[in-house]
Amino acid sequence: MEILNRDGLARIGLIETIHGKIRTPAVMPVINPNIITVPLNTISDLGFQAIITNGYIIRRSEKLRRAAEEHGIHDLLKFNGPIMTDSGTFQEYVYGGVEYGNVEMVKFQDRIGSDIITIRDIFTTPENSRSEIESAVEEGYARARSVKISKGKLLAGVIQGGLYPDLRMRSSKLMSKISDYLPIGGVVPLLENYRYADLVDVIVNSKLGARFDLPIHLFGGGHPMFMPMAVMLGVDTFDSSSYVKYARGNRLMFPEGTRDLSKLSGFPFWSPLNGRYSPDELRKAGEDERIYWISVHNLAAISMELSEIRERIMEGSLWQYVEWKSQAHPALREAFIRLAKYMPKLEKFQEISKKSPQYFADAYSLSNPYVYRIRKFTSRYIERAMDIREFSASYMERHSASEIAEIYEKGRFAALIHWNGIRIPMELEDTYPVQQSISARFLPGCRARYELPQRSAGDSIRNFDLEKLRVIAEYQYGEGTGVLLFPDGTEIRKSKKTGRIRTASLNGKITATMRAMDGFLTLTFEGAKLIASRARRISIVVTKESAEFNSKGMNVFCKFVRKASNWIIPMNDTLVYSEDGSLVAVGKAAMSGREMKQFRRGVAVNVHEGVLE
Ligand code: GUN
Repeated sequence: MEILNRDGLARIGLIETIHGKIRTPAVMPVINPNIITVPLNTISDLGFQAIITNGYIIRRSEKLRRAAEEHGIHDLLKFNGPIMTDSGTFQEYVYGGVEYGNVEMVKFQDRIGSDIITIRDIFTTPENSRSEIESAVEEGYARARSVKISKGKLLAGVIQGGLYPDLRMRSSKLMSKISDYLPIGGVVPLLENYRYADLVDVIVNSKLGARFDLPIHLFGGGHPMFMPMAVMLGVDTFDSSSYVKYARGNRLMFPEGTRDLSKLSGFPFWSPLNGRYSPDELRKAGEDERIYWISVHNLAAISMELSEIRERIMEGSLWQYVEWKSQAHPALREAFIRLAKYMPKLEKFQEISKKSPQYFADAYSLSNPYVYRIRKFTSRYIERAMDIREFSASYMERHSASEIAEIYEKGRFAALIHWNGIRIPMELEDTYPVQQSISARFLPGCRARYELPQRSAGDSIRNFDLEKLRVIAEYQYGEGTGVLLFPDGTEIRKSKKTGRIRTASLNGKITATMRAMDGFLTLTFEGAKLIASRARRISIVVTKESAEFNSKGMNVFCKFVRKASNWIIPMNDTLVYSEDGSLVAVGKAAMSGREMKQFRRGVAVNVHEGVLE
């Protein structure tokens, strides 16, 4: 899968199929080949590029089977875009006794021209025993291995594993070896019962076990309520039959939930029903007409949610959107709170900064990878300190920057400032998201006691700007890099207009620049050389052939990455080494270290300076 844009694990990408590319995140409306409620051109017009239908239902009906075998499934459904087919696994779970086996169903899907072919996995629910789920995982893998499909088509190896984190991860690892597409299965009972917190566990473990270059699908997950959270955790595609199932029950989808037609007083402006019917007229309409129009409304709600999610990814504000949406239902709130458990893992995929500011409304707003990262750094900063001084928010407000710098420079203490109810190093005051945050006034204050710094007599024993640079370097590149990159004697140039640090140089050569946008550093090759001995955490090794190009300033492509540190986070500076051990370039990671090792295409590091430049 090709990634065009990202926000943490969420991505906008392209999945290539024989019948065209699917732009993700995407929802595939479920098409029942027996009863086509919404014609496929209407589905296309509503913004859906791909659909899913059921190979088993087609196989079982003599008429449909013959038509599909003779003319292909695209002709049968009168749809020219990508079609995914399912295998009958879910029907076996619901009705029991599916007569066709795995190999037969896969061959059939292939024969009728499906683009994404699903194996006949074994459906398991959280109610199954561990040993049943374990054998379903192993048997599913054996089944996926036992089939071969035509070139260009994608094999969907379904991830099972119930609520067992290790089994989800194992299933996902195994399926990643042999599949092109990874649906997360066995989750319909969770979705139907609003068990979103459990779904968080399932999705995170499935995602972390999966190859990052494979699309992740959530079977049955296409409700606007939960989609943003699923996308944030790395789900790329969904399917939805609920648009029509809900329509049959006179239920209409909205961004935050579902409403009953009997209780509606009007239709919102965005709804295709608006201007066509009043709720009363729709209630009185014939059944087919009513189901059709509610289905169209529901598809529009899904489509609208997808656009919003895409915009959020582009803006880098998906976390905030998910936080906000989690207020829509207590079960979603519980799921949002569950995310905290995975912060150490999720943080590795989150960019170092974003364009959009962070909003802090209440204590739960602190539950995001940026704050997790800064808190983790702060606890090490405190651990290493001999002496600590805390500057309260009101102290900071009452004193000028130069007064504070003066106090700072006369002592050798760790300086903490209060920010959104937590304490953080003062040296990070201009970095993202500290500088770029908008906070509610009633956020809880720090309960810790602090000592008000006094303006003391005596000489300066350190320089605030230099210490600032050192702490930012430690934050970005790891412990021990600050003094290496900015030794005594570093010359600091500041902006005349803003007073902010712009560049740092040593012996007349620029070692790093500070970005106005997020307050972080960009290393020059000179700077990279200075920290090389302590920068394993932000280093990668590439093939000799690649190194030759990278040393001239050309980007690193994933397929040439031989080693990459798992600590590398997207958009942070990364040192590029050749296999022979020489440092050849410095640039910005386009993805996390884990992802770089798995992607076969795309840019891993955007090089900004090579050794030969
Ligand atoms: N549809 C909904 N859930 C599932 C599942 O677990 N496996 C398959 N193959 N289809 C599904």
